[in-house]
Amino acid sequence: MKVLGNTATNRRQFLKFLAGSPLLAYFGQLGCMMDSPDTVPPPVEPVPETGDIIASVADAINVFDFEKVARHKLPPAHYGYLATGVDDNATLRANREGFAKIEIRPRRLVDVRKTDASTELFGERWETPIILAPAGSQRAFHPEGEVATANAARTRSHLQILSTVTTTSVEEVTKARGAPVWYQLSPTSNWQVTQRLLQRAEGAGCPVVVVTVDLPTGRNTETLRRFTRLDNRVCTDCHTPGREGRYQRKPMFDGLDVGSAETHGEFREGLTWDFVRRLQEATSMKVVIKGIVTHEDAELCLNYGVDGIIISNHGGRASESGRATIDCLTEVVAVVDGRIPVLIDSGFRRGTDIFKALALGASAVCIGRPYLWGLAAFGQRGVETVLDILRAELVRTMKLAGVTSLTQFNRSFVRERSG
Ligand code: FNR
Repeated sequence: MKVLGNTATNRRQFLKFLAGSPLLAYFGQLGCMMDSPDTVPPPVEPVPETGDIIASVADAINVFDFEKVARHKLPPAHYGYLATGVDDNATLRANREGFAKIEIRPRRLVDVRKTDASTELFGERWETPIILAPAGSQRAFHPEGEVATANAARTRSHLQILSTVTTTSVEEVTKARGAPVWYQLSPTSNWQVTQRLLQRAEGAGCPVVVVTVDLPTGRNTETLRRFTRLDNRVCTDCHTPGREGRYQRKPMFDGLDVGSAETHGEFREGLTWDFVRRLQEATSMKVVIKGIVTHEDAELCLNYGVDGIIISNHGGRASESGRATIDCLTEVVAVVDGRIPVLIDSGFRRGTDIFKALALGASAVCIGRPYLWGLAAFGQRGVETVLDILRAELVRTMKLAGVTSLTQFNRSFVRERSG
């Protein structure tokens, strides 16, 4: 695909890119980058400076410690894929800024010795409301990819959602997880392919299919493209260009006629609620729609008998709406009124973020990049530790606020910052 010059050239190009980039606003200066090895990019999202790079999971203090390791370990192009937003990354930033606008209102003198963060989704009880969001191509981050994630989900008892563009089959992941996962479906132009994907997910015991609807057309991942230019490895050593390449190492498409199974382009642009209806008729799995951000669409989900909603802007990787998902929660919850579960993702990095979503009515919270940072940094142990940290932060936040179970959450535990 491309071969760039030596690292000095890359470094010059990178500094030039940074100098003209809104990313620079987060660093204030190029100093942090100057101290790094030539090919290590700065963080894409506004992460706090965590000091030295940690050498083992035991050294991690918060999830951002893993971001730093991932950034140093991954080839720039792969880090770019993990980190990118779209356009100016405004939605990516908005997701984080949204939490800062919400304050917690703790209650005092509550017996918090027994604090239970478990939740129920479709009749199944989970120890924690923290879910692993679907993310494609996890072998780009660690050789064990989705299997390492599944192992961590098993040892820590978390729900895992598997991407359509997984680099490990649903059967293998289910085996590693030791229990069914939820399957995320990206619609393709070929209904036979969609049907086959559904059958395989059903065959592997997936109780839920999550349909992602926030990418009706291609997206503008500028940051990914710029970081790819900085990568001096030859992409074609591993990747086949073109349509074939898109499905290469995507075992869910093995043996399928991918030639006519576009996951992008015209078909997606033509997708409507009719597809939801068709899907419901074709599968016995519960159908959850991922990517809802307005009360109007939440209402349609109810009208179409959808089983659940994931409020998501794809972690700021789809449309540059500029709107944080936490700001979308209230209007969606108001319409849904407890009739179906409302999950949420995008930008969750702290137990306090999760607390705020639960107080505003979310049933559970999905995380994406934090566990992928853990995966890239230390494989299974990294994912496990990210989950441990987030769980501990959530339970601590609950105790400090006087909340001992998810059923006690209500809006009185938060308020919008005035001014
Ligand atoms: C994703 N996401 C995603 N979503 C989806 O429905 N199908 C997919 O294949 C992928 N792939 C993917 C890859 C990578 C590298 C990332 C970071 C994300 C989006 C994901 O499910 C989730 O919505 C976001 O990651 C949540 O935002 P945070 O937690 O990453 O900020």
